[in-house]
Amino acid sequence: MNRRQFLIASGAGVLSAGFSLPSFATRSKILSYPLVASLGIAKITSDPELETDVWQYNGVTPGPTIRVKQGDPVSIPFENRLDQPTTIHWHGLRIANHMDGVPGLTQPVVKPGETFHYQFTPRDAGTFWYHTHNRTWEQLARGLYGALIVEEKTPLEIDRDLVCVIDDWLINDQGQIDEESLGNLHDWAHSGRLGNVLTVNGEHQPVFQVESGERVRLRVINVANARIMPLRINGVKATAVAVDGQPIVPGVLEDGEFTLAPAQRIDLILDMLQAPGQQTDIEFVGRKKNLVAATLQCHPTKVKRTEPIEASVVLPKNPLPSSVDISGAKRFRLPMEGGAMGGMRGAEYNGKWMGIRDLVKENKMWALNGIVGLPEKPFFSVRRGTSVVVELENLNAWPHAMHVHGHHFKVVGETDEPDTAWRDTVLVESGKTSRIAFVADNPGKWLIHCHMIEHQAGGMVTWFEVS
Ligand code: C2O
Ligand code: CU
Repeated sequence: MNRRQFLIASGAGVLSAGFSLPSFATRSKILSYPLVASLGIAKITSDPELETDVWQYNGVTPGPTIRVKQGDPVSIPFENRLDQPTTIHWHGLRIANHMDGVPGLTQPVVKPGETFHYQFTPRDAGTFWYHTHNRTWEQLARGLYGALIVEEKTPLEIDRDLVCVIDDWLINDQGQIDEESLGNLHDWAHSGRLGNVLTVNGEHQPVFQVESGERVRLRVINVANARIMPLRINGVKATAVAVDGQPIVPGVLEDGEFTLAPAQRIDLILDMLQAPGQQTDIEFVGRKKNLVAATLQCHPTKVKRTEPIEASVVLPKNPLPSSVDISGAKRFRLPMEGGAMGGMRGAEYNGKWMGIRDLVKENKMWALNGIVGLPEKPFFSVRRGTSVVVELENLNAWPHAMHVHGHHFKVVGETDEPDTAWRDTVLVESGKTSRIAFVADNPGKWLIHCHMIEHQAGGMVTWFEVS
């Protein structure tokens, strides 16, 4: 990568004035990708004049899209220029535990002014993302996230690769991040902190220029704190080829509709077989009406082709376990309790049982397995290579987007269906149980938590150990 390509890739071309980019270097085959967290501004609302104070990576919102090749080592010197400690988590990447970015579990926080060197080699190709993992309920809401794309060694035949990072911001009358509601207990006990401004790649209703006949790979990432997003692609055939970064058996979306819970991703193949000048919207499906999130605009005259490409849309396999031994698996129940209208009387917190009133005074109201917040002892501990089934029992009144670190899992019945998707985040509806199965093959200490970040902050987090 030469300097110019680096600047383009990092989004540094639009750095605000006065922001100095850290130096970078490519040594042998290790790609160096410096990241700096700092305060900044972004134009995220429908008013093009309005500047909102946000927190950013490398001076852009979202942070730069990091593109790396599967199997190539990456080094990320990360400098914290915020006045709060922070860390970075590489969501969905199956990497070494000490690079997972969980403060107090896998690393110390990166204090203001400090630098931490992240280094990893992505095993899986696909659509991933990175985000803060400290005071996430505040730092994610302020904008600390970006896309991380791991390219296949043999890519699909496509004309264009588009990334759509969708966020849901809560903005006040002055056009600034609504700080009063950060930490709002009502939100924490209900659906989480929902927003009122939808952005794609940090912009209000961006327009992507395409050409008639192109095959587009669209990578959609829900980075919202808490918003479940029902979405719809209007007017072209959309084929889902991957979820949460992992290839699936391709399937055409019915009516173009799909739902992304917080942290989930989908990869779609769109054949833009529309006439020149026509457009396709990506819509947020609202209760009353749909909102346009972004638009794909076909060039008024240019035509790439009139018939779809013949090439396959099946992505190459990632090196996941060939099967999960479900009948022989170690089984663990994970009751999920608490929240408003959940009827939880109390739970263990910091080693002792506390009633719900006392918990709420500590901003806690959610429990996994009867425990609020990160327990001292792991939820379970298994030897490397053990097949595990965790029953996520949603015993409360809210849906939850449950995420497992360091592993992908299948949502299963009583047997392993080879075609079941590998996921890292699953939406468990109120009153339902989702049985997730995986091979615990990555040594270390790994979180399981709700990715409605206010629920995590309110106690919905635990961890397991692979030895
Ligand atoms: Cu994207 Cu612990 O999470
Ligand atoms: Cu939740």
